[in-house]
Amino acid sequence: MAVAMAFAQSTAFSSRALLFLHRSGRRSFTAFSVPYSSSATAASSSSAFSSVDNLRRQKWRAPVASALERGGVKIARDDVVRDEPTNNIPDTIFTKLGQQLHRRNQHPIGILKNAIYDYFDSNYENKFDKFDDLCPIVTVKQNFDDVLVPADHVSRSYNDTYYIDPQTVLRCHTSAHQAEILSKGHTQFLVTGDVYRRDSIDSTHYPVFHQMEGVHVFSPNDWESSGQDSTAYAAEDLKKCLEGLARHLFGAVEMRWIDTYFPFTDPSFELEIYFQEKWLEVLGCGVTEQEILKRSGNSNNVAWAFGLGLERLAMVLFDIPDIRLFWTTDERFTSQFSEGQLGVKFKPFSKFPPCYKDMSFWINESFTENNLCEVIRGIAGDLVEEVCLIDNFTNKKGMTSHCYRIAYRSMERSLTDEEINELQWKVREQVESHLKVVLR
Ligand code: DAH
Repeated sequence: MAVAMAFAQSTAFSSRALLFLHRSGRRSFTAFSVPYSSSATAASSSSAFSSVDNLRRQKWRAPVASALERGGVKIARDDVVRDEPTNNIPDTIFTKLGQQLHRRNQHPIGILKNAIYDYFDSNYENKFDKFDDLCPIVTVKQNFDDVLVPADHVSRSYNDTYYIDPQTVLRCHTSAHQAEILSKGHTQFLVTGDVYRRDSIDSTHYPVFHQMEGVHVFSPNDWESSGQDSTAYAAEDLKKCLEGLARHLFGAVEMRWIDTYFPFTDPSFELEIYFQEKWLEVLGCGVTEQEILKRSGNSNNVAWAFGLGLERLAMVLFDIPDIRLFWTTDERFTSQFSEGQLGVKFKPFSKFPPCYKDMSFWINESFTENNLCEVIRGIAGDLVEEVCLIDNFTNKKGMTSHCYRIAYRSMERSLTDEEINELQWKVREQVESHLKVVLR
């Protein structure tokens, strides 16, 4: 439902781990999507703008650290969260910026990253350079232009991406660093980092998650003796490498390759594995567009690249049922994992009961589910487990009504009726005032 490009949603582990896939699934464009914008500035003239304007009014909330250190750079709250219409970053997102779950060796995300490192170290004699501390604040050029994302691609909209200002975003994929690292002369590298996307709410979607990017550049010597052309050579090497990685992580599984589309690769593929009786999308990859190589001083070369979402793989490998758990500091979660132990199965601690609250309203033209979810998360934080559209109709006058069911549930404790009622009351109030919808 979220206004986004069609993500790969072929399995129960639906995830927006991959941004640019065309294959459609649960998510699709809606009639209420923010119109395409060729740049952040263009977005500001669209209906997205009023929503951004509305969202910034929530920012009185949680007290947050005033500055944090990221990638050797001090990031002050004021550098990220600004009371300006071209900024759509809530405090809930700012507080995630320094956390770097992928650099914690006892955290499932860090354990998985290290397991992938091990695969590359042992198969490529430590030749892959590793980056896992690059600042998630990047330019629009790095995030989109440098990897050839079209000017009118929906991922550039304020509805989908967190903008600090019209030229600066929180990276929405680790591909944002490809061009820069290639230009510095690296030919084999892995980039791991936290990435940020505005999205809807359920057990597999969270606005911050982690990706790993891999790139391998070849020179003519590499393919000339093979008798293959450069693209065929790179594609074959890519598939061999990634099939090996999938076996390293999942054991002897059945796999299949699916042709797909990414702006930065041609041909482009997706790897799926058959795991626990379902086809699971593992990663996206392809042969790097020649234009990217040319611009980075690699005109005579060919390269492959891949990107994978760490949460979706970790959820499967460790049996973690809810993506919010990755962020909990509850010892009953954190104490279950240890360094180097890939695939230890998580034992759920007693599940607390959910509490459901419905709300119906007449939407307007600028309404988007991502904006709704941002308002709800701003109030309820990680107490909100799911926001689900359960009814949708248009009356004779052309007015459209949506009914959403909000599931509140804490991972850590029982919630009282009183506290949920208070949250729901605030949600109703702010949804009405910020999104300019009419409650029914
Ligand atoms: N950046 C893509 C995404 O987030 C994932 C990806 C696909 C990265 C293909 C790549 C690639 O490097 O070659 O959806």
